[in-house]
Amino acid sequence: MRYSPFVQRISGESVSAWDIHYAAIDARARGEDVIVLSVGDPDFATDARICAAASAALEQGDTHYTHVLGRPALRDAIAAKQERLLGIDVGVENVAVVAGAQNGLFATSLCLFSSGDEVLVPEPMYLTYEACIHASGASIACVQQPAADGFRLTAAALEAALSDKTRGIALATPCNPTGNVYSREELEAVAAVARKHDLWVISDEVYGQLTYDREHLSIASLPGMAERTVILNSLSKSHAMTGWRVGWVVAPAPLVRHLDNLLLCMLYGLPGFIQQAALKALELDEEVLGSAREVYRRRRDLVLGCLKKVSLLDCREPEAGMFMLVDVRRTGLSSMDFAWRLFQATGVSVLDAQAFGASGEGFVRISFTVADDRLLEASQRIADFVAILEVQSAD
Ligand SMILES: Cc1ncc(COP(=O)(O)O)c(C=O)c1O
Repeated sequence: MRYSPFVQRISGESVSAWDIHYAAIDARARGEDVIVLSVGDPDFATDARICAAASAALEQGDTHYTHVLGRPALRDAIAAKQERLLGIDVGVENVAVVAGAQNGLFATSLCLFSSGDEVLVPEPMYLTYEACIHASGASIACVQQPAADGFRLTAAALEAALSDKTRGIALATPCNPTGNVYSREELEAVAAVARKHDLWVISDEVYGQLTYDREHLSIASLPGMAERTVILNSLSKSHAMTGWRVGWVVAPAPLVRHLDNLLLCMLYGLPGFIQQAALKALELDEEVLGSAREVYRRRRDLVLGCLKKVSLLDCREPEAGMFMLVDVRRTGLSSMDFAWRLFQATGVSVLDAQAFGASGEGFVRISFTVADDRLLEASQRIADFVAILEVQSAD
């Protein structure tokens, strides 16, 4: 049978990057001693008060269709939160509730771009950007952020990627996988290009409140940017709620109206009991995400403390988020070989960062999403594995 060319556009190459993760999950299911550091899913439970809000809503029969863009009370709470974070006016008309930032990215891409358009994306980039942007018919022009320059964004690299087809820029700050938080200077460079060439900016801010060393700044807060910026955010990472699929888009009101039409065909609103849980999560906002931030900071320091002593590895200290990139080039292995051999030898699964773009070659991504003692154990296994490699290469 024939399929639409659309199915090609959504089958990005990065899909195979997950093979090691699935192998680890399968091995764990067989009872093997594996430690999965290849996914960004918080290990700790969603706060009991949030779960209780969902249960109560369920018991009260909150199991019917809801508003396509989300209940007014939830959109209001989101608008208030974003207004606080951004320091600019955000009204309920600027908010669409979606099934995670992922759904927001897909829906936004379909509403903004089409065949023949180009979207600038700093590379390395989060795995699903490729398929989401291609789904619209647009193509991606990568903005180079070389590893040698700390994966930082420059005006020169942005200018080099521009063409007369460029319609938008999509970035994540803080970034997965680099853990970089874009500075004011970097964002001003993006804003200048966006204003000059009349571009949309999609700003993925799912790790925006999980920063350690550098304050997160949204590009929407810069002059003249709110009218051309689409913010993606969610409760997945900040509130350990990945499986609840609660996210939102903050955008100019006309785009929210287009999203309303799309979501009517695509999602028809999140379940009411999930929205009630989301409301509770926003009520407890800083209390819940503040403790998540401390957990990740502690785990980051724990891994750094252990792996910094390994002379063949270079850890890139993340400024935010739940991931760390480790440069494995001095081991003499490609990042792909390193990840697979590490897994086979020790049961620790990490992701080859090449999956996020060519500049990730030579790096693996470690997630801080297992309990401290397991993370320490995994770090020790990595250190021991590299020590054996070192001995073997000296022989
Ligand atoms: C940068 C980035 N954006 C979006 C997502 C998807 O998040 P959500 O669960 O809100 O769909 C992730 C998940 O890992 C991510 O790392």
